[in-house]
Amino acid sequence: MNWLLVSVITVLTVALFKEVNCLVLTEIEGPSLVVIEDENVDSIPMNCHFKVEEESNSLVVKWTKDNKVVFQYIKGHGANVIPEFRGEVKSLSSDPNDEESGILLLNPTIETSGTYKCNIQTDKKTISMDKELHIIDIQNYTHTLQHKRIQNETHLECEIANVYPKPTLAIQTFNGEQIQIIASDVNLLDDGKYQASAIAVIRTEDDSTDEYQCVSMFNGLSFNLTTNIISGSMSFRRPEWSHLLLTVLIALVTYEKFSY
Ligand SMILES: *[C@@H]1O[C@H](CO)[C@@H](O)[C@H](O)[C@H]1NC(C)=O
Ligand SMILES: *[C@@H]1O[C@H](CO)[C@@H](O)[C@H](O)[C@H]1NC(C)=O
Ligand SMILES: *[C@@H]1O[C@H](CO)[C@@H](O)[C@H](O)[C@H]1NC(C)=O
Repeated sequence: MNWLLVSVITVLTVALFKEVNCLVLTEIEGPSLVVIEDENVDSIPMNCHFKVEEESNSLVVKWTKDNKVVFQYIKGHGANVIPEFRGEVKSLSSDPNDEESGILLLNPTIETSGTYKCNIQTDKKTISMDKELHIIDIQNYTHTLQHKRIQNETHLECEIANVYPKPTLAIQTFNGEQIQIIASDVNLLDDGKYQASAIAVIRTEDDSTDEYQCVSMFNGLSFNLTTNIISGSMSFRRPEWSHLLLTVLIALVTYEKFSY
């Protein structure tokens, strides 16, 4: 379910590889980015679509992950997962054929990230195509932004923990203006996940109330985590307010409709 949502947002890598003769690999169908939010994570399908346009006595499809063979299909001899990867990889179809052969990545974890390659070989030709799979793990993550007023400055401290891959933190105003980070730290935790923190300082007028945000980014992937904070005496979160106002508005409009 999780990867499905993300893969809709992510543009599918569809590469076209055209040749005038015998063998054409059209596409590797599958997500480029999967976000693991909790322990209920679906298996990830990767399917290689191709066409064998000329008679061939043999057809071999191999899947590799980071240049290690994980799966192979030999026409007439069936599909096999390499023993080392049993429990992690399965054949997508019980019956691969001349047009597609895929793998299913079981119980994805941060280790499932990598470069997958579909390699097809006939009598006359060998072709292959790569697909990068990025996993973001935010199970049990925490993301906080705190502020401290010190004299005429506001110190903003952002912290994130239990995430993969390594996050990059940005602290900014609500309009997206970057605030200079004066200290930052990243640690690799025992389970391969990361903890990071950053402190930014901005000058503040005496009684002004400002909204700030901390944005955690992951290797330029199209997924951010954002936490907002409002400095000054009042402490409420703008999204909740606008939501409340909207609800009131809808209620009013609905009321109007039924009170003619
Ligand atoms: C997340 O937290 C829950 C409850 O504290 C724990 O059972 C689970 O093992 C944790 N998962 C990870 C991936 O750390
Ligand atoms: C903030 O305080 C410092 C040190 O007292 C002072 O030099 C600076 O001008 C102050 N900044 C503002 C914007 O008032
Ligand atoms: C993530 O945040 C950065 C910095 O604010 C922004 O440039 C980028 O567009 C954001 N990406 C997404 C997917 O929201």
